[in-house]
Amino acid sequence: MILSAIEQRRARRALSPEPLDEQAVQEILIAGTLAPSCYNNQPWHLVPVQGEALLPLHEALAEGNSWAKKAPLIIALAARACDDCRLDEGRDYAHFDLGLCAMNMMIQATHVGLIAHPIAGFNPKKVRTVLGIPKEYDVVTLLVVGKPGSPEGLEPWQMKSETAIRERKDLAQVVHYNKW
Ligand SMILES: Cc1cc2nc3c(=O)[nH]c(=O)nc-3n(C[C@H](O)[C@H](O)[C@H](O)COP(=O)(O)O)c2cc1C
Repeated sequence: MILSAIEQRRARRALSPEPLDEQAVQEILIAGTLAPSCYNNQPWHLVPVQGEALLPLHEALAEGNSWAKKAPLIIALAARACDDCRLDEGRDYAHFDLGLCAMNMMIQATHVGLIAHPIAGFNPKKVRTVLGIPKEYDVVTLLVVGKPGSPEGLEPWQMKSETAIRERKDLAQVVHYNKW
């Protein structure tokens, strides 16, 4: 039944500003840290931001991500390459493992009826400054979390995407059975 939870997860933008239950927040963070990582290096650093601390973070959002200002919780995800496996052929695993951590958090959030929407549209330098994240760390994504809310204030295309059918490439385009 995990596939249905994965199917339910959508990057929706219509959020309610209602604060989240603290246990739900803790469980999302725990889910993130239960992700696998290369050599169990656990390179992730998570900075959950709630309440008034969100206000300066809003300044770092790209214009197209203004919808995220309604969220009661934004989690910054950061990692640095030297904390994880760095193997031949460009295989740096810090960002990969951070992505696994993010996905676990999204699945857990979805499971408890929340929206957890990852974004790359932000100014990482500003985020680092506002949250005190040391400069050696890459702020790879912000995970915008909240209860489903009103679509009021969304751009027309964003409103449409709330209920749009999910777009994905066919398996045949991306799966290469036995040989590419
Ligand atoms: C790394 C990453 C960066 C993203 N950045 C943004 C963003 O800046 N703004 C936004 O509205 N959505 C952003 N998204 C959400 C994607 O647009 C969304 O996941 C994609 O369209 C697929 O839709 P679905 O998640 O509902 O299946 C991002 C997603 C990922 C994984």
